[in-house]
Amino acid sequence: MAEPLRVVVTGAAGQIAYSLLYMVAKGDVFGPNQPLILHLLDIPPMMSVLEGVVMELADCALPLLHGVVPTDDPAVAFKDVAAAFLVGAMPRKQGMERKDLLSANVKIFKVQGEALDKYAKKDVKVLVVGNPANTNALVCSRYAPSIPKENFTAMTRLDQNRAQAQIAAKLGVPVRLVRNLIIWGNHSSTQFPDASHAVVDLNGKLTAVPEAVNDSTWLASQFVETVQKRGAAVINARKMSSAMSAAKAASDHMRDWFLGTQPGQFVSMGVLSDGSYGAPKDVVFSFPVTITGGKWEIVRELQVNDFARKMLDTTGKELEEERQEAISVIGA
Ligand code: NAI
Repeated sequence: MAEPLRVVVTGAAGQIAYSLLYMVAKGDVFGPNQPLILHLLDIPPMMSVLEGVVMELADCALPLLHGVVPTDDPAVAFKDVAAAFLVGAMPRKQGMERKDLLSANVKIFKVQGEALDKYAKKDVKVLVVGNPANTNALVCSRYAPSIPKENFTAMTRLDQNRAQAQIAAKLGVPVRLVRNLIIWGNHSSTQFPDASHAVVDLNGKLTAVPEAVNDSTWLASQFVETVQKRGAAVINARKMSSAMSAAKAASDHMRDWFLGTQPGQFVSMGVLSDGSYGAPKDVVFSFPVTITGGKWEIVRELQVNDFARKMLDTTGKELEEERQEAISVIGA
């Protein structure tokens, strides 16, 4: 058996982590032959809750789980980790402006960036889930100069999975037959869920989704809005935010990053923008990517029509504003 891989999950006493830890520990992300040591970070008031999570992980009797390190100290949490799920964040409280939320989180992700820089493996792969995920990932990477910028990503996979599920339901086919949905931009309500390059396997024949759906009005309106507002719909129904599906998306994202995408398939990830597709540079922008050998690459030369252009510009502008707000908190 391979040497155990050290993996950190922050916000480990929270609700996403409660689903995510099980998925990771049973081998869904790093494969069925990769032993793991899980590092669990949360804040001091949550240590007793975290103790319960540690007990449950032990009680799962999982063969791949070689150790668990619960802690409230980033120096311990990030020591020698090869993968980091940054889930923990300050939640939005009543009366809090978006700006206040951003300011609180920028500070958390500065501390965690510094700790990654100091203690983690230099090739650590970092996935930021905690919101505002794209800008948190940007801040984190700025404070970890010894780790390549490509190693910091933000999660838009939940949005991609939601989009895929909406298309599958519309066509009445199993979700596994639909692929290459794209989420462009920010993980926020300005994101652009784009089905124009997606394909569906209909009786063994790959068909373009726009052709199969044959309803361009629905694709440009109801579909986009449903995906953009899905998080709010789940909160309305459950009185708590998406957790099981967020954990599954985090697993999907990290698994594809470590193990690669399938031939002919691309996935969406928030990555440091190089200005592709006219997106602003130096923000963490969600693009379609393919992954081989642990390295992602933006899919090139997809057609962007006028509608898509407008949507990409709107979400890009929001990310530039968030970056500006972050800079006003931490300095340039
Ligand atoms: P939760 O409130 O249940 O758990 C968050 C945990 O993070 C808490 O245990 C809290 O104590 C901990 N935490 C806070 N500050 C921390 C710090 N400095 N270090 C370590 N831990 C810290 O929240 P939940 O539902 O698990 O969501 C976590 C985050 O994920 C939220 O920011 C949420 O908005 C975001 N989210 C992102 C999604 C995405 O698609 N990118 C989807 C769903 C949620």
